[in-house]
Amino acid sequence: MSSGNEQQLPTGAELAEMNRDELVALGGKLDGVEFAEYPDPWPVKGTRAEKRAERTVAMWFTLAGLSGLAFLVAMIWWPWQYQPPAEDSAHFWYSLYTPVLGVTLGVSILAFAFGILLYTKKFLPHEVAVQQRDDNMGAGSDELHRQTFAAHLADAGNRSTIARRSAIKRSAGLGIGMLGLGAAILPLIGFIKNPHANSGNKSGLYHTGWQPDKPGQKVFLRRYTGVTHEVSLVRPEDLDAGAMETVFPFKESERHDEHALSVAFKRVDNPVMLIRLRPQDAEKVVKREGQEGFNYGDYYAYSKICTHVGCPASLYEQRTKRILCPCHQSQFDALMYAKPIFGPATRALPQLPITLDPETGYLIAKHDFIEPVGPGFWERKS
Ligand code: FES
Repeated sequence: MSSGNEQQLPTGAELAEMNRDELVALGGKLDGVEFAEYPDPWPVKGTRAEKRAERTVAMWFTLAGLSGLAFLVAMIWWPWQYQPPAEDSAHFWYSLYTPVLGVTLGVSILAFAFGILLYTKKFLPHEVAVQQRDDNMGAGSDELHRQTFAAHLADAGNRSTIARRSAIKRSAGLGIGMLGLGAAILPLIGFIKNPHANSGNKSGLYHTGWQPDKPGQKVFLRRYTGVTHEVSLVRPEDLDAGAMETVFPFKESERHDEHALSVAFKRVDNPVMLIRLRPQDAEKVVKREGQEGFNYGDYYAYSKICTHVGCPASLYEQRTKRILCPCHQSQFDALMYAKPIFGPATRALPQLPITLDPETGYLIAKHDFIEPVGPGFWERKS
């Protein structure tokens, strides 16, 4: 006998004859399980209290399903593209995009959890059982124990009364379905929403806002003052030796276009670190082959987007001449074309070619970056 208890075991034929209740009782006995209490939560079926409990559980599952559905609808159709504050109504709806996603998904998950908790509390028997542990001398379960265990499981399902609670089953299906659909659609959302679809720049991963719209257009270096329509351009004398400033592209044609001015700040691949090296440091600079003319005097401009996974590498340490990315501590050498010298990043920060506009005295970009900025992507060749 595998249990080690003195029990009269049934023969194979007797086992085949036994019904579920008998198997449950036998399994309990063999496992040394004693039920101190095994109350039926609803000894009288169909009472108003039971129906009310069923409706409450179904209500939570239905709420989970409806919130999941709202999450899906918001994710696909809610106005999600940036609208400047000047567009009062459009900006209001745009600003609700993230909160709506958070609230609908959160309510869906919470309501589903409440539904499960309530069902467990109201409909599962709360038995009190005592069992002696038996590992069958390390030999694993035999056929007898497997059958009795399966009977226990089926019995638990039966006693949970889920089979006859169609409202709960349907609403739980709705909740699980919507939540599951939301989880499944998340990785696909990038195929539904293409941020470059209306940008006029079909190869958005290869170009940034520093690309001129037409030949001969000047793209100035602009600092952010906190006011979108306030255009503050950068002159070489604005920075002290050893200083760093974050700059964004500015095109004269966009001066009165609040939306375009906002986009220039918001576009993720636009931020550039403009570093003015100290003269004694500038003498030690090692330039990248083919990019010897990308600096203007002691001024070097590097993309701010880390080549590891795209965090803003915003820290320039003047003493070590290193650019630091706070996310995973990659470090780039500002004296050696921002080559990575520590941490997980493997590619140098792309350098923006800059010069002085002789007509205005402001710094401008000579052209766009000559390589994609930020982390790698499938289509990237290098
Ligand atoms: S994103 Fe910069 S180190 Fe990881």
